[in-house]
Amino acid sequence: MPVNHTTLESETSMLTIHDLSATVANKAILKGLSLRINAGEIHAIMGPNGAGKSTLGYTLGGRPGYEVTGGSVDFDGQDLLSLAPHERAAAGLFLGFQYPVEIPGVSMVQFLRESLNAQRKARGEDPLSGGAFLKLAREQAALLKLDPEMLKRPVNVGFSGGEKKRAEMVQMGILDPKLAILDETDSGLDIDALKVCGEGINAIMRRPDKAVLLITHYQRLLDYVKPDFVHVLAGGRIVRSGGADLALELEEQGYEGAVA
Ligand SMILES: Nc1ncnc2c1ncn2[C@@H]1O[C@H](COP(=O)(O)OP(=O)(O)OP(=O)(O)O)[C@@H](O)[C@H]1O
Ligand SMILES: [Mg+2]
Repeated sequence: MPVNHTTLESETSMLTIHDLSATVANKAILKGLSLRINAGEIHAIMGPNGAGKSTLGYTLGGRPGYEVTGGSVDFDGQDLLSLAPHERAAAGLFLGFQYPVEIPGVSMVQFLRESLNAQRKARGEDPLSGGAFLKLAREQAALLKLDPEMLKRPVNVGFSGGEKKRAEMVQMGILDPKLAILDETDSGLDIDALKVCGEGINAIMRRPDKAVLLITHYQRLLDYVKPDFVHVLAGGRIVRSGGADLALELEEQGYEGAVA
């Protein structure tokens, strides 16, 4: 049977960002950024401080205050930018924060169950019962080696930096997204936690029908979660793309050397 490349491409494309521009506080940060991520792929974005990496994540997630001034984003066949943040999440987009927020008064269990059931409802699925949810939450906590007792505590309140990141990965495992954008998930992790989180990302997301965009400054996470593509974001756009070796080259030469 002849292969129709047009059809094949549209079937496997998970995220297509075309010429995206965005402002924060009236300041242009993203300036014509294009990037395509297919299902089954892991991409890493690296780049200098202030380049716009977190802004890209927030803009894709639909965070208020991040205003799109041009371009388009197709997520799994939908116009992502026309969706409200909760609709983006229900469509299968997960954003792991560089600085996870604390929510006093709301326990992890409550938060995770509400998040999951809100997404299930938006997709026309029945809510998970309390028992079924607890089983799922315990399984995911075990995968990330997070003490299940922590699920009873208020979201991120008093969690250590590494515990916050692990709790985010537990949340990702429970929500089971199609595309995860993980903003410096490796920051604050000790050496063992880095391995646990890396293996968790692989276990949850390394599948033919899923994709990951890892924002990171260092090679160390990429030793566990091996990227198919590495991109350099500088000055609000992708200025260089390559394979996993590019991360090593950047580590050796720095951005000035590698992008000049
Ligand atoms: N609310 C805001 N008000 C003003 N400027 C902002 C705001 N949010 C972001 N910026 C600016 O946008 C630019 C890009 O920030 P962003 O957080 O996207 O960088 P980054 O690439 O993630 O950097 P890092 O590697 O340090 O995390 C920075 O110059 C930052 O100061
Ligand atoms: Mg950032």
